[in-house]
Amino acid sequence: MPKIQKICCVGAGYVGGPTMSVIAQKNPHIQITVVDLNEARIKAWNDKDLTKLPIYEPGLDAVVAEARGRNLFFDTDVDKAIDEADMIFISVNTPTKTYGKGKGMAADLKYIELCARQIARVAKTNKIVVEKSTLPVRTAQAIKRILDQTGNGVEFEILSNPEFLAEGTAIQDLMNPDRVLIGGDQTEKGQKAIQELVDIYGAWVPRERILTTNVWSSELSKLTANAFLAQRVSSINAISELCEVSGADVNEVSRAIGTDSRVGSKFLKASVGFGGSCFQKDILNLVYIAKTYGLDAVADYWEQVIIMNDHQKRRFAEKIVTTLFNTVNDKKIAFLGWAFKKDTNDTRESAAIYVANDLIEEEANIHVYDPKVTEQQMLSDLDYLNTRNSEANQNHLTVHQDPYITLKDAHGIAVLTEWDEFKTYDWQRIYDNMQKPAFVFDGRNILDRKELEKIGFEVYTIGKGE
Ligand code: NAD
Ligand code: UGA
Repeated sequence: MPKIQKICCVGAGYVGGPTMSVIAQKNPHIQITVVDLNEARIKAWNDKDLTKLPIYEPGLDAVVAEARGRNLFFDTDVDKAIDEADMIFISVNTPTKTYGKGKGMAADLKYIELCARQIARVAKTNKIVVEKSTLPVRTAQAIKRILDQTGNGVEFEILSNPEFLAEGTAIQDLMNPDRVLIGGDQTEKGQKAIQELVDIYGAWVPRERILTTNVWSSELSKLTANAFLAQRVSSINAISELCEVSGADVNEVSRAIGTDSRVGSKFLKASVGFGGSCFQKDILNLVYIAKTYGLDAVADYWEQVIIMNDHQKRRFAEKIVTTLFNTVNDKKIAFLGWAFKKDTNDTRESAAIYVANDLIEEEANIHVYDPKVTEQQMLSDLDYLNTRNSEANQNHLTVHQDPYITLKDAHGIAVLTEWDEFKTYDWQRIYDNMQKPAFVFDGRNILDRKELEKIGFEVYTIGKGE
């Protein structure tokens, strides 16, 4: 196969958009077209005003500005881009199934299958198809079977190239990855295809950081990586509850264990619970795969990570209710943050949604300020849970543009996202304008508890007793 000249990426989301932008920036000789069925999303990717890109990621605007129109294009014509490409990345969403067999656990592969069928229908020349989406182990086999049905002599090589970027640091992670993982067939053709992709990443990633494996190891490594990361958060969150009753301080425990180089210091921040589009979905997927193979002990082990996370979110909401004299009925609870972590506008599976939902069940009035999340998004997040109708959600949720107005007259403040700006607020002014006693529930351990207590606040911090 000649050197790759044209790439198509199906799916212009949080992964497809930033990943292809960086590949295009680093490989100006390759023409890259990112396609999506969602017209509004593509329109936003093409917006001259770079603040209107469909996702917020620090540094993304500069990369898009450099490559877009030169060798990076965003389009809705999926067939054309597939037809012209030598290499096709599949970067569509793979959410948890909400129906039928595997409901609530298995990954829904309908978008992947639709993509494979579209490629099979359109392709007239040989292609390398790259799984960029996170997929259950052995999905490549299913994709290959669909593609091989074309019967028109077109040859396909399937590679697995899972993405490890984290939101909020996507550009940094892409520019300087710990590793790039490429899985392919052990045949000569498979190895050639792997080399094509190694060359593309080799434009900026040192060769020793590009790992090559068989397809199944690559697919399974992605699910395993997310499971291990999430497991660390659930582990420290489990310890945080023990800290609260025993007088230990979870920050001190994290530091004490994290300095052991075998444990490592990252991903040991206790919180109100992990969120994001992938941790929960990927662990549930792992649990489902284990169950499918009859490995019940393996399934139960990993499911516990999710059970612990649900517990952490719920007990935070319960803490607010019990502290506010066992009722939040008609009280103003102010939320700082709604995104699942700082520096992103993504709210998928954010702990804030679940905490708000539990408090609304208790008839609280939730007022929210988040620097990047829209009111429409917050309402749709609550509606998605289907706990009550949309009108009831609207009655209990008020979204503000100004943090001080959000916090004025509140009975309690809950920090749900660790946005840096929250630390810089005038907390004396906030205290003066609040109901007394003035309660703060720091779900991210970012505020200076001693300072707040000096002002007069009553502060609850995850993982630290009274
Ligand atoms: P996303 O929902 O933001 O984007 C997926 C896009 O694919 C959507 O815009 C959708 O319209 C489009 N799409 C779906 N089917 C299509 C089709 N047949 N033709 C054209 N477009 C189609 O999802 P995402 O967050 O970018 O995640 C994509 C994959 O990457 C998932 O498997 C996810 O697990 C994985 N992943 C995500 C992250 C992350 O940080 N979000 C990180 C690593 C891996
Ligand atoms: C995560 C992984 O870090 C990425 O490697 C992976 O590619 C991605 O999932 C994916 O497959 O989607 P992401 O979800 O974007 O990335 O963000 P993380 O930084 O991992 O945070 C996930 C959640 O865990 C957030 O809610 C965060 O606040 C929480 N967290 C993280 C903690 O509560 N404590 C920690 O110490 C670390």
